Amino acid sequence: MSTFKYVTFPVLASALFLASCGDNQTSQPETEAPKPVETDTQTVDETSEVETIDKFTYANYEDVRLTHIDLNLDVNFEEKMLDGVATLDFERINPEVDTLVLDTKDLTINSISLVNGEMTTPVEDYTLGEADPVLGQELRIPLSKETEQVLIDYTTSPTAEGLQWLSPEQTAGKEDPYLFSQAQAINARTMAPLQDTPAVRLTYSATLRVPDGLRPLMSASQGEENENGEYQFDMPQPIPSYLIAIAVGDIEFKAINDHIGVYAEDYILDASAEEFAETPMMEEANEELYGPYRWGRYDLIVLPPSFPFGGMENPRLSFMTPTLIAGDKSLTNVVAHELAHSWSGNLVTNATWRDAWLNEGFTSYVENRVMEKLYGERRAVMEQSLALEDLKRDIAEAERPELTQLKLPADIAHPDEAFSQVAYVKGQYFLIFLEERFGREAFDPFLKSWFNDHAFESVTTETFLDYMDENLRTDYPDAVTDAEIEAWVYEPGLPDTAKVPQSDAFEMVQTQSDAWVAGDISTFELEELAADWSTHEWLHFINGLPDDLAVEQYEDLDKAFSLTGAQNAETAFAWYMLAIKMDYEAAYPDLEGFLLTVGRGKFIYRLYEALKENGKGEWAQRVYAEARPGYHPIAQRRIDDILNEG
Ligand code: BES
Ligand code: ZN
Repeated sequence: MSTFKYVTFPVLASALFLASCGDNQTSQPETEAPKPVETDTQTVDETSEVETIDKFTYANYEDVRLTHIDLNLDVNFEEKMLDGVATLDFERINPEVDTLVLDTKDLTINSISLVNGEMTTPVEDYTLGEADPVLGQELRIPLSKETEQVLIDYTTSPTAEGLQWLSPEQTAGKEDPYLFSQAQAINARTMAPLQDTPAVRLTYSATLRVPDGLRPLMSASQGEENENGEYQFDMPQPIPSYLIAIAVGDIEFKAINDHIGVYAEDYILDASAEEFAETPMMEEANEELYGPYRWGRYDLIVLPPSFPFGGMENPRLSFMTPTLIAGDKSLTNVVAHELAHSWSGNLVTNATWRDAWLNEGFTSYVENRVMEKLYGERRAVMEQSLALEDLKRDIAEAERPELTQLKLPADIAHPDEAFSQVAYVKGQYFLIFLEERFGREAFDPFLKSWFNDHAFESVTTETFLDYMDENLRTDYPDAVTDAEIEAWVYEPGLPDTAKVPQSDAFEMVQTQSDAWVAGDISTFELEELAADWSTHEWLHFINGLPDDLAVEQYEDLDKAFSLTGAQNAETAFAWYMLAIKMDYEAAYPDLEGFLLTVGRGKFIYRLYEALKENGKGEWAQRVYAEARPGYHPIAQRRIDDILNEG
């Protein structure tokens, strides 16, 4: 029915294939022939016809594709490296293929062998390509016709971007070291040689040896200790490489129910279990909307504060920042978000980072639906509204308009560029737009079948649009026009068909704020009015304050509400952003403390940026020099760029 300007067609013989697997919970994926993936040729701009191939991988995954990786590794804290053997299983898409090309970054390859039945033959003529600062090095391994498996003996680098090694002093317990990984987007290749693209799905298993007294965890079945004191893990469902994850430390566990629980260092374990106590309700709400949770257990681990994200949806074990432990469950939408990825992202995965909105936009939408179901429309709309402000800022600040399209251009320089608020919030608002046009009665079952019909597949934006044409638009041909969809997906900015969130709560805050700013009510009166504000209302208030207040007004607010040093990390962050813009120096000692202890990118990148832009570059450099060794390598790279550019 559609006269869209994108066209899709099945690719010919040797072209791109993606894994197709049953939705089976525990057994190995079926080994049926893979389905051809539909490649798209965008004709929106006739000059940039681009195939849907992931350009952030060296892998020849159109010809040969990994199906399983087994990792047999020592976790060596002295040397800060993983050391051992990766055993790779693969399938030949192209029977003529004679080379396996893998991604590596900062890996030392000690030796490679080919396995054929009982025979293991060393390979001498593999090649490791030149190092590219983004992609790393390609590893080309010649295969013989009979090769069944490839064994790679390798070691990671102490500076691997996907791994953070913390000394005992950097942990809360101070006695044991800690390791955690962050593979998304393209750092799995710093942990193991593999095809590091979300277009390829593979199962994995691992055997880990860790120092006595430490507990290893992975995004898999949770480590059984064998008779040799090794821990064994199994992930029998095919996942993209960016979901392989590891954490090792002095980690304790507290159950929330029979299949949900929290891992954390002792100091924060009880508080975390309390903060996340409503996770089972979130899971139920998600299941009611979109079908069964398919991954068995769902646990959360609260990591050290240098974890550079709010959360990371590693399957069966979401990784979470301790800055969520606010004491009042006000920031648990991040739990709803990471859990929602169990449907959008982990089950149905973006095939390339240009399609990141399929992961993050869908997940932000599902997250908000779950929040609405559990906590009501008032909270859900406040969260939509705060998110929209962030989106508007990112659109205004975008380096070029193409980066504000949902389907990103082919020439993004790094997958990081795919994760602005555009993927998250414009993606979410696109789905809200569709929901409103089709109505929940039609849209909810449609999304549920999207997740079902593409379970354990990697898909593109065009796969989704085609699926919507066939399974929704045919039944409601007048609900949306091609031009409206085109504007959302392939054009920059926020379309005028976007919903305008109406938050009565925020309107009330605005009225009160305006009155206080104008001097019509005193700070004392504001204190009474604000007594029952939630964190969301505080954020709206702080973010909306004009930038020409007198210093005394900041002081008054600060005295009344102790905003400097606020316990809630989101509130503290909003206040420090304002303090930087307004030169409110009284907040600086606490801001420094914040920057020295918190490594969550969402906060610290913007704080360093604001400091630099507001003439505080030197102060920022001084604090950063002290903070940098404690930051995650991902955060170090980003802040090095922020403070050094221009
Ligand atoms: N998958 C992301 C985190 C991520 C994005 C890691 C890009 C690496 C590259 C995760 O699900 C996420 O979106 N986290 C958000 C929280 C969310 C509520 C918006 C975060 O970390 O702030
Ligand atoms: Zn996400």
